[in-house]
Amino acid sequence: MTVRITLPGEMPPDRFFDTRYEVLRRPLGAPRGSERIAGDDNALNVWAEVDGVAAAVGRAHLIPICNDGSVIDVAAKSACPPFGPLAPDFVGETDDSGTIIPANLRPAFQVRQMGTLERYRGQGLAAEVLQKLEAEAMRLWNVRSGWLQARLVALPFYAKQGWTCFGPAYDVPNVGPHRNMWKDFR
Ligand SMILES: CC(C)(COP(=O)(O)OP(=O)(O)OC[C@H]1O[C@@H](n2cnc3c(N)ncnc32)[C@H](O)[C@@H]1OP(=O)(O)O)[C@@H](O)C(=O)NCCC(=O)NCCS
Repeated sequence: MTVRITLPGEMPPDRFFDTRYEVLRRPLGAPRGSERIAGDDNALNVWAEVDGVAAAVGRAHLIPICNDGSVIDVAAKSACPPFGPLAPDFVGETDDSGTIIPANLRPAFQVRQMGTLERYRGQGLAAEVLQKLEAEAMRLWNVRSGWLQARLVALPFYAKQGWTCFGPAYDVPNVGPHRNMWKDFR
């Protein structure tokens, strides 16, 4: 297994998108091509490669200063609520571990589109991908925090990597129930 990465300004190879489609788009009945989303060429894209297959994939982007992390995913016909703690008027919120999430957590990055092909699951590949995304986000952008919108089924995976839920569960139309998670990199 080799962990591979493309940096902002580069596009990952087709096999990266093949896996994103299989894991995250085909199950929604979305057409081929929908796996390519805005900002892919301006993100960190990481995959765990096994025998020439992108067995697990993920991406991370720097959240622009004018953005609160809310995402409208055209292909999935879905939208996500914002990350409240990144709003300019944020005054503090307690996460599920009892930690008070502070203000001033930018530079902040967002993880999206994590997925492992079914036959490669449970082998630690997504964990490798996420750890690489985190390390590169710190190196490249000097991030103070990370943010993501997790499907409820994936919460234990992210929790094992040190991410914590905050705020209520919400439904992302066409995808299912989610919660917001964050991780402190200060
Ligand atoms: C969530 C997902 C990416 C995990 O991929 P994976 O490669 O199987 O994960 P890993 O093998 O790296 O798991 C790392 C650890 O998390 C645990 N874990 C992973 N998924 C889990 C789950 N659904 N429930 C409980 N624990 C889980 C593993 O047991 C492992 O624990 P360990 O360190 O004690 O051995 C994969 O199940 C997937 O692609 N699901 C469908 C798409 C999806 O939901 N993506 C996330 C969108 S937010």
